[in-house]
Order: sequence, then C-alpha cells, then structure tokens
Amino acid sequence: MPTKRIPLPYSPKVLEYFRNPKNLGPLEDASVVAMAGSPACGDMIAIYLKVNDESEIIEKATFESYGCAANIAAASVMTEMITGKTLKEAWNLTWKDLSDALGGLPSIKFHCGILAVGALRRAIREYYRKKGKNPDWLPEDLTKEEKMALEEEELVKRLQKRYERMLKRGE
Ligand code: FES
Repeated sequence: MPTKRIPLPYSPKVLEYFRNPKNLGPLEDASVVAMAGSPACGDMIAIYLKVNDESEIIEKATFESYGCAANIAAASVMTEMITGKTLKEAWNLTWKDLSDALGGLPSIKFHCGILAVGALRRAIREYYRKKGKNPDWLPEDLTKEEKMALEEEELVKRLQKRYERMLKRGE
C-alpha cells in the first residue's frame, strides 16, 4: 500500500512566505555573508547583509536557503525584520520572534528558525571580526542558536562518515 505523507500544520503565513519569499538570492554588494547548516543534508542557509558602516544599520538583507518550507519562511521574514535595524537590534532577534511573526512554527520545525538566527548571528560576528571591532554587547561565548547550528553541522559530518564506512564495508 502506498504510504501517505501527513501534511505539517503550517500556518497560512509560513505557506505565504514559502510560496512568495521576500529578499531571496545573493546580495552583490553585501558587507558580509554567513552560512549555517550543512550542504550534505540540504538544511543550509546563507545570510547576506549590507551594513552602513557609520550607523551600523542593516540597509539590505537577503538569504538563500536549501532547507524546508519553514526554513525558507523563517529566513525570509527575518530579512524583513532586520532591515533598517542596527546590528545590535538584529542580534537580539530570537527564533521565537520569527516563529511569532509567522503565526507559529510546528515544534518539529523549531530548528529551522534556530538555523536562520544562527546564520544571522554568525554574519554579525563576522562583520565585526572583519572590522576589527568588539562591541561590548556582543557575547564572547556562542549563544544557544549558534551552538545548535554547530551541533547540527557536526552531527551531519558524523553521520556522513558513518555512512561512508558502511558503504566501504558493503553494508
Ligand atoms: Fe531542517 Fe527545516 S531546515 S527541517
């Protein structure tokens, strides 16, 4: 008997952003770009930011995503929410803010929003690293979102190695 896929309970807003994503694609004049996730499993996101160096305001933000509908929607709404904000304000955005803006994400899809915020925070860190600056509000330690993005990347690497070993053994 053919198996039926159970549709996920996506909110109308998630579906709307998935079908008509805003700010999709690379940004030619980006000040900084950062990625999170793993190309191996497809859950990967890139965030591009164009920052005004004097005001530290994000003038433009775009994304590329190879993740699921929730990831595309989360990244898309995030680029809208951070445009016109300072880097500090953007840093304080959480994956829950994204979820709220989308009318809620299904719990199995929380990590898709976390990945988007993880990529944004990497981009902000990278921006300051390139400028040789270290603002006092930027924590030295990785935040929960950044750690979770890292854990996911390491998990995929471990699984990939395991599969490669299984393949070699002909399992
Ligand atoms: Fe992994 Fe959505 S990005 S399931």
